[in-house]
Amino acid sequence: MKKRFYSALPLLLLAWALASAFHPSIYEPRVPKDSLEREQENENPFPASRERIQLGREIYFGKGLCVTCHGKDGKGIKIPGHSPRDFTDKKWQEARTDGELMWVLRNGSPGTSMPVRVGKVISEEEGWSTIHFIRTFPGK
Ligand code: HEC
Repeated sequence: MKKRFYSALPLLLLAWALASAFHPSIYEPRVPKDSLEREQENENPFPASRERIQLGREIYFGKGLCVTCHGKDGKGIKIPGHSPRDFTDKKWQEARTDGELMWVLRNGSPGTSMPVRVGKVISEEEGWSTIHFIRTFPGK
């Protein structure tokens, strides 16, 4: 029994290494390298007014279903595989432009359970509004 475990060890190590490789640091961009610059410059066309943030809140807790994974406090619930993003993380907030977040809302985050939202369950305008709301989590 013991012997079998040791012979399987290299395989276990390999599996662990592969799993880590597919879980890039949360500060690494999710947008593919070849379009990163363009997406980073895609600015939020709506000003972050109180009404806009309120609209984003309604989408987050309502038809966007964001709350089911990202939680009421924006910290993310525990689910198998890749954890949902913790929106209260200031360092992560600073690492991302609104344009990058819009890319994730349009494409999901491949290899994770973050699903496509914009164009499927919410409109582009609702997506930009929700991004304004997500920006309010740090400091809450
Ligand atoms: C089924 C679960 C699930 C739902 C529903 C969900 N998310 Fe996510 N979300 C995730 C996971 C898991 C990640 C982490 C993906 C990663 O690390 O690449 C994530 C990551 C993100 C990110 C971070 C992307 C980045 O560049 O770091 C944003 C922004 C986001 N979600 C917004 C939303 C919004 C807005 C909604 C609702 C409209 C939503 N999510 C709904 C699971 C979910």
